[in-house]
Amino acid sequence: MKLPNVSLVWSALASVALGLTADEWRSQSIYFLLTDRFGLTSNSTTASCDVADGLYCGGSWQGVINHLDYIQGMGFTAIWITPVTENFEGSTSDGEAYHGYWQQNAYATNSHYGGSSDLLKLSEALHARGMYLMVDIVVNNMAYDGAGTSVDYSIFNPFPSQSYYHSYCLINYNTYNATNWNDCWEGDTIVSLPDLDTTQTYVKDTWNAWVKSFVANYSIDGLRIDSAMHIQQDFFTAFEEAAGVYCIGELDYGDPAVVCPYQSVLSGVLNYPIYWQLLYAFESSSGSISNLYNMINTVKSDCADTSLLGNFIENHDNPRFAYYTSDYSEAKNVISFIFLTDGIPILYYGQEQHYSGGNIPLNREALWTSSYSTTAQLYTHTKTSNAIRSLAIAKDSAYLTYQNYPIYQDSNTIAMRKGTTGLQLVTVLSNLGASGSSYTLTLSGSGYTSGTVVTELYTCTNVTVSSSGSIAVPMASGSPRAFLPWSSVSGSSLCNGAGSGCTAASTVAVTFEEVVTTTYGQEVYLTGSISQLGSWSTSSAVLLSAAQYTSSDPLWTVTVNLPAGESFQYKFIIVNSDGTVEWESDPNRSYTVPTGCQGLTATVDDTWR
Ligand SMILES: *[C@@H]1O[C@H](CO)[C@@H](O)[C@H](O)[C@H]1NC(C)=O
Ligand SMILES: *[C@@H]1O[C@H](CO)[C@@H](O)[C@H](O)[C@H]1NC(C)=O
Ligand SMILES: *[C@@H]1O[C@H](CO)[C@@H](O)[C@H](O)[C@H]1NC(C)=O
Ligand SMILES: *[C@@H]1O[C@H](CO)[C@@H](O)[C@H](O)[C@H]1NC(C)=O
Ligand SMILES: *[C@@H]1O[C@H](CO)[C@@H](O)[C@H](O)[C@H]1NC(C)=O
Repeated sequence: MKLPNVSLVWSALASVALGLTADEWRSQSIYFLLTDRFGLTSNSTTASCDVADGLYCGGSWQGVINHLDYIQGMGFTAIWITPVTENFEGSTSDGEAYHGYWQQNAYATNSHYGGSSDLLKLSEALHARGMYLMVDIVVNNMAYDGAGTSVDYSIFNPFPSQSYYHSYCLINYNTYNATNWNDCWEGDTIVSLPDLDTTQTYVKDTWNAWVKSFVANYSIDGLRIDSAMHIQQDFFTAFEEAAGVYCIGELDYGDPAVVCPYQSVLSGVLNYPIYWQLLYAFESSSGSISNLYNMINTVKSDCADTSLLGNFIENHDNPRFAYYTSDYSEAKNVISFIFLTDGIPILYYGQEQHYSGGNIPLNREALWTSSYSTTAQLYTHTKTSNAIRSLAIAKDSAYLTYQNYPIYQDSNTIAMRKGTTGLQLVTVLSNLGASGSSYTLTLSGSGYTSGTVVTELYTCTNVTVSSSGSIAVPMASGSPRAFLPWSSVSGSSLCNGAGSGCTAASTVAVTFEEVVTTTYGQEVYLTGSISQLGSWSTSSAVLLSAAQYTSSDPLWTVTVNLPAGESFQYKFIIVNSDGTVEWESDPNRSYTVPTGCQGLTATVDDTWR
């Protein structure tokens, strides 16, 4: 790995000692991964992992180190990893502790993920890249392999006595009742989660001392606090102060009136109120845009600092977005939302590969089976979304704290504005899905001055603001749109500076090379989800040429002019002389046409499967 220059190394080392404050976290972008499921020490991409079994699959901290390029390549500046402390061993009918939330010893690390020296190595590897480490911690409870009535408290470290815990009762999740939710226990009768009495001075002091040394020992930059919802508010002020780093609490609840008040004691909270409305709005073209519109405004007024909320559309506790809809455009829109609204974006590992697992444990797939594809549509969409956010931050010193607000809605569309007038980012999202028609949305309320040239950053298209101040937004295929003034984009790496150094290519000549052995009379065609490839119709597919075909190198090729920046799915087909068609096996292949200067070409190498 190449090290950055000396001054960057110095500042990375300085941050090792200091951790990262809430203010410094505002501009970060987080990739959340389950250590057991992200990467293997061996780098294998074929090792099996049966998610339904709920057993350890072998992911490790070294496996994370091995694939930091993959994470940083999307533009993330931080990772959040699942709990690192020692859990109980053995299998239960709820599975094993592969997720890390069944802690018994907070002073030891989980040996399944490697040694504590590997955790420190991960922290150092991140800092050497100018990236940051957020660790998930559990302070609400310990975990016991057995019913709540049979717990042997002496095995816990710290808190080896029943006197530190609330007496046993299971939480009633049907109605929110702070007393019940704080004092009763999470978990079930197979694995019980003895609930610490965090009102006791000794319990508070012990956790405060623990977190201080924990953060220092591993040079941790931020903490995600599990089950913060089940701890009384007054626990957190001293706890975050002892930690000395930004803390973001999990309050798994959709009502901002319950979630937002925790921001008076914790710097950050996960944005569950937006999560639910974002899911409902974009899971289908009949989702409610107006409920999302209203929730953006409610959270904006109820939460003390929206720029420190953590935004997400997937995590390890809920079905993945693609479980609700397989539509790629809808998946892109929700990604654009979490990056371009107020707060810190959090992508759940596998989301960039369009994983579709449902409820626990199916939403915890192994990432290695994707072979860490960096050409997957949502990987490149995430990369662009991170770049748009970074550019907006770089150009406008008030961007992060300027509160995003909705400026337009119709039954399928929402538009939002964020940033100082003259530099503002305008985002237009649609739930119409990939089959959505092409049309022009006349958008007013953006605040741009008439005559301003603004650039749409996902398609690299310029639009001039009309004399009445509206933008003619080119909508197509339900794809998200995001605008910044061309003057901000000029000279940046996005859209090749949108015409600053060269004229941007509107189409790119893409050569497809397919290695496939055919017999006389067979022909190879390319078909896919865009009109240029016949919109999946075999009769409109594009014929490849066998001009370069030899028996030792059975190559079929074709060059197609495709719109720059377009993402699509495709497959090759063989058409036999009698007209019958053979398809490549699943999954569909994905590709995003690169953007760049006019004359840009690209080549895609594939082998029949
Ligand atoms: C795994 O991949 C990383 C990054 O390419 C490399 O540094 C490391 O040596 C590989 N490990 C093994 C066991 O192949
Ligand atoms: C809330 O929960 C506590 C403890 O379980 C219980 O004593 C109290 O009656 C509950 N309050 C309401 C309004 O149900
Ligand atoms: C941090 O390291 C010190 C010194 O080795 C040790 O005493 C302490 O228990 C460690 N803290 C944690 C939380 O592991
Ligand atoms: C966008 O507009 C600017 C300013 O008018 C121009 O210089 C640039 O070439 C345009 N870029 C594209 C891709 O049309
Ligand atoms: C490939 O794309 C086609 C057309 O959109 C779709 O019907 C099919 O389900 C896709 N296959 C897979 C495995 O996603």
